[in-house]
Amino acid sequence: MSTATIVDVVGTARDRVDGRLKVMGAATYPIDVTLPGLAHAVLVQSTVTSGRIRQIAVDAAEGIPGVLAVITHLNAPTLPRAPMTPLGPSPMPPLQSDAVLHYGQHVAMVVAETLVQAQEAAALIEITYQRDTPVLSFDDPRTSAVSHPWIPDQVRGDVTRALAAADVKVVATYTTVENTNNPIGLFATVAVWDGDALTVHDTTQWPHGVRDSLATAFGIDPGGVRVLVPFVGGAFGAGLRVWPHVTLAALAARVAKRPVKLVLTRAQMFTSVGHRPNTIQQLSLGASRDGRLTAVDHVAASSIGMADELLNPITTGTPESYACPNVSARATQVRLSIPTPGWMRAPGEAEGSFALESAIDELSYALGLDPIELRVKNHAKVNPQTGLPWSSNALLDCYRQGAERFGWAARNPKPRSMRKGHLLVGYGVARASLTAYQPPCKAVASIRRDGTAFVRSGATDIGTGTYTVMTMLAADCLGVPIERVRFGLGDSAMPNAPQEGGSGLTGALGNAVQTACVNLVRAFVNRVSDDEASPLKGCRLEAVTVRDGGIQITDDPARFETYADILTRHRLDEITIEAESAPPGETSSATMIASAGRFVPFTAPSTGARAHAGAFAAHFVEVHVDPDLGTIRVARVVSAVDGGRILNPKTARNQIIGGIAGGIGMALLEETVSDRTGRLATTSLAEYVVAVNADVRDVDVLFVGQPDSMTPLGTKGVGELAITGMAAAIANAVYHATGTRVRSLPISIEKVLGHKSSSMQAPSTR
Ligand code: MOS
Repeated sequence: MSTATIVDVVGTARDRVDGRLKVMGAATYPIDVTLPGLAHAVLVQSTVTSGRIRQIAVDAAEGIPGVLAVITHLNAPTLPRAPMTPLGPSPMPPLQSDAVLHYGQHVAMVVAETLVQAQEAAALIEITYQRDTPVLSFDDPRTSAVSHPWIPDQVRGDVTRALAAADVKVVATYTTVENTNNPIGLFATVAVWDGDALTVHDTTQWPHGVRDSLATAFGIDPGGVRVLVPFVGGAFGAGLRVWPHVTLAALAARVAKRPVKLVLTRAQMFTSVGHRPNTIQQLSLGASRDGRLTAVDHVAASSIGMADELLNPITTGTPESYACPNVSARATQVRLSIPTPGWMRAPGEAEGSFALESAIDELSYALGLDPIELRVKNHAKVNPQTGLPWSSNALLDCYRQGAERFGWAARNPKPRSMRKGHLLVGYGVARASLTAYQPPCKAVASIRRDGTAFVRSGATDIGTGTYTVMTMLAADCLGVPIERVRFGLGDSAMPNAPQEGGSGLTGALGNAVQTACVNLVRAFVNRVSDDEASPLKGCRLEAVTVRDGGIQITDDPARFETYADILTRHRLDEITIEAESAPPGETSSATMIASAGRFVPFTAPSTGARAHAGAFAAHFVEVHVDPDLGTIRVARVVSAVDGGRILNPKTARNQIIGGIAGGIGMALLEETVSDRTGRLATTSLAEYVVAVNADVRDVDVLFVGQPDSMTPLGTKGVGELAITGMAAAIANAVYHATGTRVRSLPISIEKVLGHKSSSMQAPSTR
């Protein structure tokens, strides 16, 4: 037998394994699911912002042919609140009282044979409300800022004294507006009961969360609930919480004794699946004349619904951002009569980094220092909050290599000094980082007698490339050709997986998949350890190489046997191994990782020896601003990214481009607008403007850095990195182009031209 050639697919740019299915229209999203006897549910939502339902007339609706049920708070069963999640409480269950807490709250549901019947009946429901005056402003005396329940104030040194003593200071207030997640896939739930067993096809980033939530709502065993979502259709964080409409779809199916489909309309998406809440942030920076940061004070307030809790880490990244001896970071929340917020792409960190990185830019002008030089000067060589060395940190390479690729040296530091024809040209930069996050995750790996591998976990692929990178990883770890590896996800009957969120799934799931696959090879090796008929008899995992669907003694290529042959001889259909990812910094000395077909020991530095670093990036932006019209084009972006080990440069690059597109939208376009009564004005993609291809031009992504040392896989998670810091990089470029500092997002034409406009007062009133 010839010498094995091991070609690791991990690290190579690969197309999506599910790409063909998607472009052929053969990928089944929850909205596509149809079943015999399927009935349809339509939601009726509150047209007032605050108050009580005084009367609700359903007779006309019930008289429509085909109507199977009309459910309101008057006849809905008690639905217990879903269990506490690792990320905080779930939203309140629907239809539990006459109270209206926000515009667009679900107040009734019609179930009918056809969608049109349900829509017609829903339109005939007449509701009279007792209206109260909604609380819509941070300044409303009926509300006040409350401490964030899960985010403690982070303090080091004495920021007040340091600010008083600083040579140079920047004190500024930044605001961000509400943004709404707008995945193209409308959120849909199809529910089917079989006795007390419930199957649900649901647009979610977290099948096991939906399973547990529905089990609580209906008082049934979680084992009796199955949640399926092989394809998501985009979510951007909207699928991280289990929203009331999911419970309502299951309730509809229970009452109608039929399978029921519930699809949110685009308008309903704006009030039903969360949004990025608005923020007001005060940043105070102090520095010595030579540009050393001496004080960073970050105070943030964000909005929250009247009866909900949301973890919103606006300021948590700040203390770790720069080597500064005196730092204070605190976040509060203000209860308003707004639809329940949720998480949207780098929740908190996207908003917080806008304020911090804008203020750092302002400081660079106050000091007369290049903005990159200022950042390099204050680079945190160790974690400044704990003093521990980073598990990996290539941020300085991001600055250096990114600046070179971008051509930063051509920048004239003087604002409004660069032109291209008639247009003002600005260069801006910002730092980005994302907190490391790896929740527990399980995976199962099997090799079958036909030589194929099937690896699976109850995770999701929200478009990030999970199917693809996990297939690649399993192929390498098992030495099975990638065409013979299938990766399964999107099914709560598979092993427990966390949400695809917090940029944590590739790490969590990848470490579980790698462990399962290594242990599966070990199981094959053990199986033949005393098998006289096997050329592998007596071998150890350390001494083998996997390739071509089998195992070889590394030093003796002739001693090779396929998995299929081993299974056949041992009369086994398959060998299956389940494994769980080790928490970061907690691998045992027996942990082995697969590398180029071989298995090598891996020991992570303990969490007490190293600070687990998330991903880092530096964004470089060129904007073109029309000095007469105030129109802004993001002409060019270079993002230099330390994402640790990159499993697939193509899908990772896609993630960065997507984040940049989201950042361009956040900086320039996106704004969820309500009128003075709290009713939503932006209810379609015509009114809520997101970045399209014409807005996202020349984007260049380069990856720098090394695999992170804290986990066997070495990834860091790049999903939400690029939107972090992006709005600041654009705002900083706009300032450089025009000399106008815009501290409130989105950066509109009026703001650039320096006109006072109503939107400049946002967001103290919604
Ligand atoms: Mo992201 S907001 O954690 O899907």
